[in-house]
Amino acid sequence: MEYLSQFEELKARKLNLDLTRGKPASDQLNLSTAIDAIEINDYSFDQLDLRNYGLLKGLSECRELGSKILGCEKEYIWAGGNSSLTLMSQYLSYLCIQGIGDGPWSSEERVSILCPVPGYDRHFVLTENLGLNMIPVPLNGKGPDLEAIRSNLESDDSIRGIWCVPKHSNPTGETYSKDTIEGLIDIFSKTRNKSRIFWDNAYAVHDFEESEPLADIFSIAKDKGEEDLVIGFGSTSKITYAGAGIGFIALSELNQALYLPYYSSLIIGPDKMNQLRHVKFFQKNDLEQHMRKHADLIRPKFELVQKWLKGQSYGSWTKPTGGYFVLLKTNPGLAKRIISLSSELGLKITPAGSTHPYGLDPQDEYIRLAPTACSIEELDAAMEVLVCCMGLAHQENLKV
Ligand SMILES: Cc1ncc(COP(=O)(O)O)c(C=O)c1O
Repeated sequence: MEYLSQFEELKARKLNLDLTRGKPASDQLNLSTAIDAIEINDYSFDQLDLRNYGLLKGLSECRELGSKILGCEKEYIWAGGNSSLTLMSQYLSYLCIQGIGDGPWSSEERVSILCPVPGYDRHFVLTENLGLNMIPVPLNGKGPDLEAIRSNLESDDSIRGIWCVPKHSNPTGETYSKDTIEGLIDIFSKTRNKSRIFWDNAYAVHDFEESEPLADIFSIAKDKGEEDLVIGFGSTSKITYAGAGIGFIALSELNQALYLPYYSSLIIGPDKMNQLRHVKFFQKNDLEQHMRKHADLIRPKFELVQKWLKGQSYGSWTKPTGGYFVLLKTNPGLAKRIISLSSELGLKITPAGSTHPYGLDPQDEYIRLAPTACSIEELDAAMEVLVCCMGLAHQENLKV
């Protein structure tokens, strides 16, 4: 009853709140406005006018910046346009249209990608849009369950890859251990098919508390002679500007040679002016210090979420040390109801099921919370709504 009256009281407030997307808030974007003031007087670079077409792999110094962010050697990195998701979509499209020496994926009856769950909704939508089959595999706090991967690979030879968000994973917050990374390489190197590990390192430098480091998958793979297995991605979307940053793709020498002709049919050259502005910005601003400023802005938001959830008996939740999400695990069967009740109170939450391929969360229990984009005041109100709806949904459930 207590929740019902709180629900009615909150409804009367006619709130308009949003915990859906993991975006930087404006105060975070303000940390990088000096980029806009950077004057570029000399456009010539290696006998090339930076304003012109060309330099497909990106500006050398910007590739260096990418290597610093992604934690692998510069030789692997290409610097592209503003979005790593676009680079992922282009690379997967290339696999579907051309393949990697064993014909286009699209000519096969079924090609499957392993999807660690709970995972990133846009990976799933992209994979589905390309007509690829998705197979969920569980995450265990240190990355995907290697036994589940092994047994899937043994029983299904349509599997050609796996999505991984190895640091502060979206949305579980976990970081893959070195053992998991080694295991992944070992398992995939034994597959008969030419498989790929899609290593989306979107939160590589996004710690807001002391965090476990992530081992460099490229050097591990190289030591095992398997660096062609890995395709890395990352961007400055949550470092500088989410809509006007730099995306990176990381590939072995062989993969670069295979992919370059296709990639060069897509673009004649990236925005090197923006790349140079980013290079100059990070010559003046140390990357680690810059990320500490982000951390100082977002840490209080994550603390506020924990404060509201503390003591709740209606589920469990993650306590991440970096990244952009808190994952709430409700009692089975309640996620949709909680999200629908929240929506009645004016709080938008990412739809239930979006953490799983095809939108199918089998137990209807996961809710992804993205606390960074709103203000502290809005977040406070949003959490009050959420906690009330959790309680109400639980109470309703007990009555059935
Ligand atoms: C795991 C992951 N990959 C990629 C992206 C998007 O990256 P970009 O802005 O570089 O396209 C996001 C954004 O939330 C993300 O969480």
